[in-house]
Amino acid sequence: MAKIALITGVTGQDGSYLSEFLLGKGYEVHGIIRRSSVDYRERIAHLEGTPHFHLHYADMSDSMSLVKLVGKVQPDEIYNLAAQSHVQVSFDAPEFTADVDAVGVLRILEAVRTNHLEKTCKIYQASTSELYGKVEEVPQSETTPFHPYSPYAVAKLYGYWIIKEYREAYDMFCCSGILFNHESERRGETFVTRKITLAAARIAQGLQECLYLGNLDSLRDWGYAKDYVECMWLILQHPTPEDFVIATGVQHTVREFATLAFHHAGIELRWEGKGVDEKGIVEELRIKNEKLKIKEGDVVVRVSPDFYRPTDVVNLLGDPSKAKRELGWNPQSTSFEELVELMVKHDMQKVTREHFNAAEYLEKGIVK
Ligand code: NAP
Ligand code: GDD
Repeated sequence: MAKIALITGVTGQDGSYLSEFLLGKGYEVHGIIRRSSVDYRERIAHLEGTPHFHLHYADMSDSMSLVKLVGKVQPDEIYNLAAQSHVQVSFDAPEFTADVDAVGVLRILEAVRTNHLEKTCKIYQASTSELYGKVEEVPQSETTPFHPYSPYAVAKLYGYWIIKEYREAYDMFCCSGILFNHESERRGETFVTRKITLAAARIAQGLQECLYLGNLDSLRDWGYAKDYVECMWLILQHPTPEDFVIATGVQHTVREFATLAFHHAGIELRWEGKGVDEKGIVEELRIKNEKLKIKEGDVVVRVSPDFYRPTDVVNLLGDPSKAKRELGWNPQSTSFEELVELMVKHDMQKVTREHFNAAEYLEKGIVK
């Protein structure tokens, strides 16, 4: 009998990769989608209609929908990935964030108990390095104290603790993966990495002149989402329910990410100034394109305080030793350099496809 998995957040970056991963393992995969006036299901469009992949309407803010769905699907494993996942947005919509990211976790746990599945259904909770927030030590491991530093992180802290509570109180197999930032070609376009790779591609093709960013000094431990979803599954296959830090153990600034992304788009940057006056300037152009709006010496990256956060998490670096040791997971399967390159390559092609005739683009030889 195929195992049955239920994924909340199936339309998101991680949900789409996890669906592919579990289908590849022979699972029957059920995903929760929510009603929207525009059906935005681009990341899973290629899976729709395939056998063993099923979508259901429900919402993390609607207990009854979750209780009914868990009863209908009878999952062996639930991957709770649904969240209002944007940290900056959580300052604008804190109550909604708490409802979905905190109470939503409780609703899933209660849906499992209500259907008497607590002894058979394992639950994975998408916890986050944002729990470390205003960090109390570097690098951060499973034993580092939490200090959440945004409404998003505070909501996720509730999720983390309620999972632990149900594990201890009801002997349920429920665990947190404390995942550090992971990115991909499918990353939401307002997260800093994708915002940068898309802008670099647009600037390199004459469709944009300048990219505006916030805190360039912020340090992140960035991994590749496709590598990280394997860990979610491994955590639920571990003999005992435990929490794991999932990270690469390598750290870079937002500025370093931007420098490398522009390099792969054919633009070498140098940086001048400090704080809001810092600028990314074109040092060398390795692209030929008559549509190009920039030249050497032009400013292509500026800082805008609009992207500053009331409190910002600035020093995330994970220690993945436990995951390496106990799950046999390789945190370095995709390096930072490979990640940036694959995202830029993807976005160069996406921009070309969407805005230009591909043949014309290739003929004019954009990147030397
Ligand atoms: P994402 O791309 O933003 O996807 C979030 C998913 O949650 C989407 O499918 C979204 O549906 C769904 N969702 C939001 N509100 C919902 C609601 N009320 N009811 C049902 N579904 C709802 O996020 P991601 O990057 O894949 O991250 C997956 C999870 O891991 C999130 O919980 C995130 O907080 C956590 N996490 C992410 C990272 C990272 O670096 N990516 C690191 C640590 C933890 P729509 O498509 O309808 O909006
Ligand atoms: N989004 C964004 N936009 N961030 C910027 C910008 C900008 O223009 N400029 C600088 N940053 C900085 C932010 O201040 C932050 O310090 C860092 O870049 C990363 O921001 P995001 O890419 O938005 O990600 P995040 O780290 O806040 O949150 C992501 O990772 C968490 C795991 O640590 C999300 O995926 C969360 O859901 C996840 O829990």
